[in-house]
This record gives sequence, C-alpha cells and structure tokens, in this order.
Amino acid sequence: MTDDAFDTLMASVDPPLVVVTTAADDERAGCLVGFHAQSSIDSEHYSVWLSKANHTYRAGLRAQHFAVHFLTDEDLALAEAFGTRCGAEVDKFADLAVDTDEHGVPLLRALPNRLVLERIAVLDDGGDHVCVTARILSAHAGERFTPLRVSDASGLEPGHPAEDRAVAP
Ligand SMILES: Cc1cc2nc3c(=O)[nH]c(=O)nc-3n(C[C@H](O)[C@H](O)[C@H](O)COP(=O)(O)O)c2cc1C
Repeated sequence: MTDDAFDTLMASVDPPLVVVTTAADDERAGCLVGFHAQSSIDSEHYSVWLSKANHTYRAGLRAQHFAVHFLTDEDLALAEAFGTRCGAEVDKFADLAVDTDEHGVPLLRALPNRLVLERIAVLDDGGDHVCVTARILSAHAGERFTPLRVSDASGLEPGHPAEDRAVAP
C-alpha cells in the first residue's frame, strides 16, 4: 500500500462531517469530526474518533454523554467554527443558540439532525485518535439532507497541527 493509494481511497469515500459536543464538570466542548460511523445494529451503537490533540478529547475522557450533530451542505460556517479553533482558548458556544440536555450536553439549535450518545468504551489503539463507542439514547431527524463532506471543508485548517497529537512511540 502506498500513501497515495490510501489518500485516493479516502478522498473517494469523502466522509460526511459532524460536530461532536460533550460536557464534563460543567465544561462544554465540541469539535468537527470526520471519523465516525454506526457500529452496531441491534443494539444500535455509534462510534466517533477524537484526536488526542483536542480539547474535546480531554473533556470526552471525563464525559459519559455526547451529541453528534450532522452538518448539511449549508453548514460550512459551523464546520469552521468547531474545526479550526481550540475550545481551551475560545468559547465556541458563546455566539450560538445552545440548549443543554438532561446530561449537560450542549445541543446546537442550528443543527437539528443529531444523535445523543451514552459512552460504552474508549479504545486507544496507539494511534493519534481514540475511539469512543456509544449506545444511541435518542435520534432526531428532519428532512433528508445533503451532508457537508470532507472535500467541502478542504479550505479549513484544523485547530491543532498534526504534531500536537500524542502518539505512543
Ligand atoms: C475536515 C476536518 C476533519 C476533522 N476530523 C476530526 C476527527 O475525525 N476527529 C477529531 O478529533 N478532530 C477532527 N478534526 C480536527 C478538530 O475538529 C479541530 O482540531 C478542532 O479545532 C479541535 O477543537 P478542540 O480543541 O476545541 O476540541 C477535523 C478537522 C477538519 C478541518
């Protein structure tokens, strides 16, 4: 396998983007995520992968609940807001309409297509992201939508450079 082939495969798949939010000890966190998938049918599970560089990862280690907000092709501004800034430095929720669910998880009113998740396990396989597996507590969907995809966000610079990701030697 060459790096080029891997990149070509991933570019062809062109995953949809979501914003994952969570809260721990009254601290809200959230970031743009391209690594996510349904991971069980019965019972219904969903998994997200969080970068070890991220504020959301650090909050997520202490959290039990998460929301996965699906972005549409009209949501590039929210992708930028959550994908290019670090929550340790700015309050990403400050200028947004945000509800708080019974678990304290921030729900973005502008993104009504979402899942609320309860964490089952966290897998650290030595890579630069950890996998959070979760059961689906609730799902909320409006009309079918066209997702915002990684290729739509190619102009965005992630809030943390690759060097920030702690990887086991
Ligand atoms: C297109 C794109 C896809 C991304 N995918 C992920 C991802 O799957 N998981 C993740 O943890 N971060 C991902 N990021 C990076 C974070 O969203 C970004 O570094 C963010 O600023 C982190 O914010 P935080 O430090 O407040 O958590 C992605 C960024 C971009 C631009």
